[in-house]
Amino acid sequence: MVCLGNICRSPLAEGLLQAKAKAAGLNWQVDSAGTNGFHNGESPHPLSQKVASANGVDISNQVSRQLTQADFEKYDRLYAMANDVLSDMKRMGGKSFDPAKNTLFLNELYPGQEMDIPDPWYGKEEGYVEVFQLIDRTCEALIQNYFATQQQMTSL
Ligand code: 4NP
Repeated sequence: MVCLGNICRSPLAEGLLQAKAKAAGLNWQVDSAGTNGFHNGESPHPLSQKVASANGVDISNQVSRQLTQADFEKYDRLYAMANDVLSDMKRMGGKSFDPAKNTLFLNELYPGQEMDIPDPWYGKEEGYVEVFQLIDRTCEALIQNYFATQQQMTSL
């Protein structure tokens, strides 16, 4: 789960997907990072922590870090929270950037729409609530899409 600062959007995506995957019986290793590294070592934004906690998800132990070259090799899928993030990932990954593995997160909910999870950084609390709900629905869709793909593969 990748955004710019790894303090607002991607920590929510990490916390939500990890919890939903576990609940679905999937042993996934979910992580998050930012492309810009400006907030390395920081905890998630207080408003991201607040909305997560209000919905039963604890993201307080996460620590912001910058995306590394090794991440492109280590993970099966890398999800960009927005188009500008995906462009940064393409530049950072170089030869290790595989377009089949590096995709827009919101395309899991709205396939082919190429939409962004809005950046709540400059806004108020309502923005964080809206972003939480969108990420929550997208994580649900991602897991459903995964099971649907698995089912298609086993029925071939
Ligand atoms: P995020 O939000 O990418 O969702 O963590 C941002 C946080 C900080 C900055 C930009 C976006 N920043 O420029 O410092």
